[in-house]
Parts: sequence; structure tokens; C-alpha cells
Amino acid sequence: MMKLRSIIILDFGGQYAHLIASRVRRLGAHSEIRDPETKASALKNAAGIILSGGPQSVYDPGSPAGDPGIFSLGIPVLGICYGLQWMTKALGGEVKQGAVKEYGPTVIEKIGAGGALLEWCPQKFIAWMSHGDEAKKLPEGFARVATSKSCANAAISNETRHFYAVQFHPEVTHTEYGQEILKRFVSLCHADPWSISGYAKRIGEEIKAAVQGRHVFMLVSGGVDSSVAFTLLNRVLGPERVQGLLVDTGLMRSDEVHEVRSALQKLGIRNLRIEDASEEFFVALKDVYDPEEKRRAIGETFLSVQKRVSEKMGLTHAEGWMLGQGTIYPDTIETGGTKHADHIKTHHNRVQAVQDMIVRGLVVEPLKDLYKDEVRRLGEELGLPHELVWRHPFPGPGLGVRILCEEAPQQLQASSFPFGPERPSGPSNDKLQAGKVAYAVLPVRSVGVQGDGRTYRHALALFSDHPCMPTGEIWKLATEIPNKMSAFNRVLLCTSQSEVADFVFTPGFVTRARADVLRAADRIVSEEMHVAGLYEKIWQFPVVLLPFGLKKGGQSVVLRPIESTDAMTADAVRLPEKVLKSMTERILKIQGIDLVFYDLTSKPPATIEWE
Ligand code: XMP
Repeated sequence: MMKLRSIIILDFGGQYAHLIASRVRRLGAHSEIRDPETKASALKNAAGIILSGGPQSVYDPGSPAGDPGIFSLGIPVLGICYGLQWMTKALGGEVKQGAVKEYGPTVIEKIGAGGALLEWCPQKFIAWMSHGDEAKKLPEGFARVATSKSCANAAISNETRHFYAVQFHPEVTHTEYGQEILKRFVSLCHADPWSISGYAKRIGEEIKAAVQGRHVFMLVSGGVDSSVAFTLLNRVLGPERVQGLLVDTGLMRSDEVHEVRSALQKLGIRNLRIEDASEEFFVALKDVYDPEEKRRAIGETFLSVQKRVSEKMGLTHAEGWMLGQGTIYPDTIETGGTKHADHIKTHHNRVQAVQDMIVRGLVVEPLKDLYKDEVRRLGEELGLPHELVWRHPFPGPGLGVRILCEEAPQQLQASSFPFGPERPSGPSNDKLQAGKVAYAVLPVRSVGVQGDGRTYRHALALFSDHPCMPTGEIWKLATEIPNKMSAFNRVLLCTSQSEVADFVFTPGFVTRARADVLRAADRIVSEEMHVAGLYEKIWQFPVVLLPFGLKKGGQSVVLRPIESTDAMTADAVRLPEKVLKSMTERILKIQGIDLVFYDLTSKPPATIEWE
């Protein structure tokens, strides 16, 4: 892929570098991500360069800096957020802390025609801002082409040299006309075209070169990614050089194993062995409460089952075997794929044992440059059945990351409460009442992304008279609360009752019993989505189990339907009242479930999963 004339994204460490790359590819141009320090001499063949956002200030010691030589290559350069600031500084301008930090939707106003970059945007549009610093003095030859209320130089350019920079994020869907801005930049670059069929051809050659005469052993989870990767390896190398193993972890969805086996059999793929290792997984997860520890335990159990089964199958004597994985692009970044990307969480495909194998050249990951939508298109090209390709993404560690584990309730500092300073007397569950909206802080925390970094914060549950029909005010609170109060990264609506609940916490780790309860709830959600004709309209619908209820041993279920294109950003889906009500009523009939919540938060500030 190196030989292609690409648009190169220099990753200054924001969570958005790969999102930019995927947007550029969707616009039909080849894109690649590189470390920001990449020497200009190595970028001579680039069609254009995009400098990504990043969490630091250009004046922070050790903050990432590129090679200023890139500005002498005579190719278009686009700076985004931190990219704008570094470009400004590198070309002799000045960056200072802005009067206010801007985070969220902001009105951008063009100055005149807005230069070549903003040519296709209206005079005013909404963009997603996330910054503290801004350009104060522009480098020579630059002009301001757009402004916002609290950032004078919201967009700048040197039209003669084809240098453009924006303080906002055109790559996120929250920015209106963001796609037009990137499209305009791409049109100025003349990069080599990108298409999924072109990728399939190239990757076939790359797989053959990487595997050489060896065989590939692959864990198939039943999800889209590993099924597509497994099918691709079968096609490229032939079934006699590939062996699949589906490990039943006990953390899979209801009927999943059966469905996967029959779907692959219909494709004529029979080199898949199924191994029930559920007991081993539950033993490994006993007394494990930390999410990172859980991912590690699950990843390592996978490897030990794989080792045991491969020994049983007589596959081990060989240097001749490699490990195949269905890792996709977002999985690699969220572990910190490039040098400056903040560590969000360790993907189970990236635990230490696998990293060691990667270093030794023993892992083949044919989808690691693709985003989910690209994997699906590739799956269709390979002739996989529609229902398999359009299956909702399901995390490799399965229900394991959807069963929240805590040893003790997580309390919140009183000073962090949103409405009024006074802490209520009474129960210790931190419930409060403010105006018409009643709310309570959950005694557990979940992961999120606020600004450019990882957060592990509380969720706030709202209680309303119409529990299955969130009003405009409730949706507004869902945006405002995490934006204004960094103590919270999620807002939920309780769909099972209108009165504030007295939460009763029960310590819990992952057990078969908890997995069975969550599996039953997840099945109800799937059935209801299909009945309502919503399955393919919703991108993903995690169902999460929380270790508290209304009585000792009681638990809660969170419904987390989201819309997304690539899992990098997401919005909560607005479910019809009837569907929400039916899901809630049926889930409450499961023994041990006391409460049901509906997660209203977008990503950012929350993530899709709760861990
Ligand atoms: P988050 O929660 O980071 O999720 O917004 C983004 C996408 O990644 C999936 N996900 C995982 N997939 N192993 C996986 O295979 C994991 O550990 C993992 N964690 C999150 C998540 O389901 C969503 O599609």
C-alpha cells in the first residue's frame, strides 16, 4: 500500500485521526496514518497531508511536532485543531490560550467566500469545537477565512501554497458541511483512488506474502469481523491451509454458536471447530472487578484454549502456523495504535501475549486497515449472507464487558452534584430532586471520552412521569449534564419507574448466572428490534447488566441503542415509546431484574460500551 499516492494523516494524538482517514477513504481517496515525526523526505510521494487534532498544547513540553520540511514539498496541507496550532507555530505565527475553552457545537461564520476550503459551505454553519488554545498571530501569507464567537481564527489559509487550517473538527458528523470541507480538500490533492474491491485484491497479495507457506489458525467469534476475516483467509489461502476455532466462552448471545455454524456451513466453510470452554472463562473471571483485568483475563483464556485445542488437534509442532485475527482499525487505535493516541482501553486482540506474537511476525490481521462499514462491504463482496454481514457488531469479550463488576458501591463527592450544593439527607444512594426532574447518581462508573482523553465517571439516572417517552427537556439534559459537569459522562432515563429509586448494591463479578440473566435480556431486545423492523436501522444495541437493584441481589439492565457509521462517534437512538415499553416490561419479568434504564448519551462524551 506504501506505493500508492495517498493523503497522509499525521496523528497528533486526538481520538480523531482514524476518523479523518476513514472519511477521506469514503470520499474515494486513499489515506494512511503516520506518526507526526515522520520525515518530510518520507512523505514526498504524498498527495496531501492532514495534520490531526491532539490533546496537548503546542507549548507543552514534549508535545508532538512534525517536520517543518513538509511545508516545502509543494503539496496541499490541512491542519485540524492541534494541527492548525502546530502549523501556525511551525510557519512563524503565534498560538495562545483562548479566553474561553470551547467544547461542543459552535457557529462558524465565513469571511467572504471562505477561501478554497470552505467554498462549498454556507455563510454560517455549526461545527464541533474542542480546544483551549488558538492561533493569535497568523504566519506570513495566511489570511483568516472564518471566525466564531470565541475563536477569531476559526479557519485560516494560504491559498497560494494550498495550506488550510480549521480550529474545529470537520471529520465528526456533528459538524455540518464537514464532509464538504474534507471533500474540497481531497479534490485539491489528486490522490490515488480507494475502493473496497481494490483493497480485496491488494490484501490478497499481502496475506500470501505474510503467510508464505504456513497455515493460519483463527479464532472465530461469530461477529462480522472475524467471519469476514475467516472467509477471506479461506478464499485467499484455500481451506486446507486455514483452521477456524469457535470458542464458546459462555459470554455469547443466545443461540449465537448455532447461528454462526449454520451460516458458515451454508457458505461451504466446514473447517471450523466448536469448543465449549465456558467453565474455563468463568473460572478466569472469578473475583475480577477491573475492566482492564477482565479484558486481559478473557484474552488470555482465549489463547490458552486455543493452545490446548491446537495441541489436541496436532497443530503445534509447526513453526508452520500463524494466528489469524479479525482486528479492525478502531480496535487498534483505542488501544493507542499510533504513538500519541491516548490509551482508551486495551483491546482483547492486543493483550501482551498477542503483542509478542505480532512482534515475532506470527499474526495475520487482514482487516486491520478497515472500518466497520468497509468490512461489511468486503463481506458482501465475498458473498457472505446478508444477515451475517449486517449483524450488529459484538465485542470480542462478548457479554463479559457488558456485565459491570464492582466490589463496593462507587460514591460521588457531594461537590460534584449538578443541581444545588446541598447533599440530601436520607438514603446513601445519592438521590436528589431538582425542579420537575428527579435524579439519582448510579453507584457504578463507566468509561467515556471527554475532550481527547479517557474518563471513568458516574452515570446520572433521570426519573420522569413518562418513563418510556423522554421529553425534549430530558434529551437536552442528556447533552448538557456531561458537557457542563465533568463528574458525569452518561445520562440515563429510568424506564421501569417514575419515582426515584433507592439503589441497593450487591457486589458482583462475571458468573454464569449473571451471563444467563443478561443473555435473556439481550434476546428480548433483539426480538423486539426485529418485530419493530428496527434491527437494521440501529447500528448497535448493547444491553448492559449493573450490580444494583431495589433489593439485595437485585440487578439493573441498561438499554444502549446507538446510531453510528464507524463506532468512533455515536448518537443515542430515539426508540419509539411502544418498543421501549415492551422491552422494559418483558425485561422486568426476568427473575432478579429490578430496574431498566435507557442510555441517552452520545459518544463523546460516553463510549458505546460501558467498559
Ligand atoms: P466503545 O465502547 O469504545 O466501542 O465506544 C466502540 C466499538 O468497539 C466495540 N468494542 C470492542 N470490541 N473488543 C471488541 O472486539 C473490545 O474489547 C471492545 N470494546 C468495545 C464496541 O462494541 C463498539 O462497536
